[in-house]
Amino acid sequence: MSHTLAIIGGTGLTQLTGLTISNAHDVQTPFGSPSAPVLEGELGGMRVLFIARHGHPHRIPPHLVNYRANLWALQNLYATDIIAVNAVGGITRNMKPGTLVLPKQIIDYTYGRDETIFDGEFAPVSNVDFSYPYTETLRELILKSASKVGEKILNGGVYGVTQGPRLETAAEIFRMENDGCDIVGMTGMPEASLAREFKLNYASLSLVVNQASGKGSGAITIREIDENLAMGIQKVRTILGQFVSDYYDS
Ligand code: HPA
Repeated sequence: MSHTLAIIGGTGLTQLTGLTISNAHDVQTPFGSPSAPVLEGELGGMRVLFIARHGHPHRIPPHLVNYRANLWALQNLYATDIIAVNAVGGITRNMKPGTLVLPKQIIDYTYGRDETIFDGEFAPVSNVDFSYPYTETLRELILKSASKVGEKILNGGVYGVTQGPRLETAAEIFRMENDGCDIVGMTGMPEASLAREFKLNYASLSLVVNQASGKGSGAITIREIDENLAMGIQKVRTILGQFVSDYYDS
C-alpha cells in the first residue's frame, strides 16, 4: 500500500465515530507538540490516521494551533493524503448553513502564524507553487464518494481564512465578498500551504455552520453554529466512511 489517508478533524469532529483505534502516537516534532496524539486505526476495515486540530477535548483556538507540528506528525506516520474538515461561515448566496463545500481556492487573511517549514532552520528556502491549493484528484474522489452515499457537496468556491478567534465585522465580510470569497473560516491556512510544502495531497471538506457576519438577520449565535454543526457533521461522517473504502480501491 503506497498511500495512506489522514483526516484532520475540526470543530465538531474531535473524534471519528467508528474508528477502531489501534495506536495513539504521541509524536514529538522539530516544531513542538501536535494538537493531540495522532490516532491510527481502522474505519470500515481501512487504515486511517486521525488528528483533532483543536485538541481533544476542543481547547486550542485557530490562531494557536501548531499546524506545522500536526502536519509533520502525520507525514512522519507516512500519511500521503489529507482530508481536512473545516467549519465555516457562508458568504455568498448558495452557502447556506448545512451546506457542504469543497473549496477550490483560498485567500489568506491570517497573520502572525508559523506558516512555513522553509524558515532557513528546518529546511533551506524554497518557493512552492500554490496556484491551485487543493489536490484535484482528492477533490474528485471526495465528490464521487459523496454522490455514492447521496450527499450533496458544492464543488468549488473560495475559502477566505481569517485570524480569529473573534468573528468578522459585517464590513470585513463585505470586503471579503468583493475579493471573491464564498466561505470564511479560521483554520484553512497555513494548513493547506504547509501540506503543499510537505508534499502532501490535501483537500478541505468544509461545512457551513452559519451565515457570515452581516449576511443573516442579526448577531451570529453559538447556538445556531452548534445546531448546524451537529446536523452537518453526520453528513461529513457518512461521506468519510464511504471515502476511505473508495480511497484504498483507487
Ligand atoms: N467566520 C469565521 N470562521 C468561522 C465562521 C465565521 O462566520 N463560522 C465558522 N467558522
